[in-house]
Amino acid sequence: MSSPILVVEGVRKSYGTRRILDVSRLELASGKSYVLTGDNGSGKSTLLRVLAGMEDAEVDLYLFNGRSVSLRSYPEWLRHDLIYVHQHPYLFRGSIIDNICYGLKARGMTRASCEPQVREAIVWAGVDELLDVPSHRLSGGEKQRVALARARVLHPRLFLLDEPTANLDAEARQQTLRLIRDLCNANSTVVLACHDREIIQLPHMHRLHMRNGTMEFQNDGYSMA
Ligand SMILES: Nc1ncnc2c1ncn2[C@@H]1O[C@H](COP(=O)(O)OP(=O)(O)O)[C@@H](O)[C@H]1O
Ligand SMILES: [Mg+2]
Repeated sequence: MSSPILVVEGVRKSYGTRRILDVSRLELASGKSYVLTGDNGSGKSTLLRVLAGMEDAEVDLYLFNGRSVSLRSYPEWLRHDLIYVHQHPYLFRGSIIDNICYGLKARGMTRASCEPQVREAIVWAGVDELLDVPSHRLSGGEKQRVALARARVLHPRLFLLDEPTANLDAEARQQTLRLIRDLCNANSTVVLACHDREIIQLPHMHRLHMRNGTMEFQNDGYSMA
């Protein structure tokens, strides 16, 4: 059993009197891949956003790689180790290269020193023919692939991907699936909120299932998919 990259306990969030998140415990093993399923409105996106420090919630325990984290003062090192990718990723103004460089530059690298990694990321994402297209003109699938490349170039230990193949046409979905398969086969931990059967049935995928804000089951095998 590999050591956990993330352990959270007692995650609760309400809007008014309505409790939308009540997860007693979630543990993610290092290097494994998980699908997070559940009906619309069951709390998948909220949970991922809370884990990424983007939404407030009550949390009794948050341990990342054994280090205790307070969501109220979300540490900078965790922004390096954990990256959330939105269902409709927001790309910055400018080019694909500007977008992929952004995080590396924020970490103090110069544009020239980023170049080999950025080149590799462009080829990985299959966007080499789109480099002259301004980011706001890219299709949904192209934006999703750039967002995945922008995240991957930073080598986080944990990816939280929110419905990466939802609303994509067949070809864009296949292109994104190829990237997802590759991320899942690499060393990082990946959590994918999705309804996509093809992702759910990927080999070695573990299953998390939410119902009305609770974690209904966590399964270490593929058989319950
Ligand atoms: N800002 C908000 N105010 C009130 N309710 C919200 C807000 N954001 C999300 N919710 C509710 O929280 C529940 C969980 O939403 P969400 O996490 O987006 O579910 P999922 O991603 O599983 O579809 C939904 O019922 C949604 O209506
Ligand atoms: Mg959602």
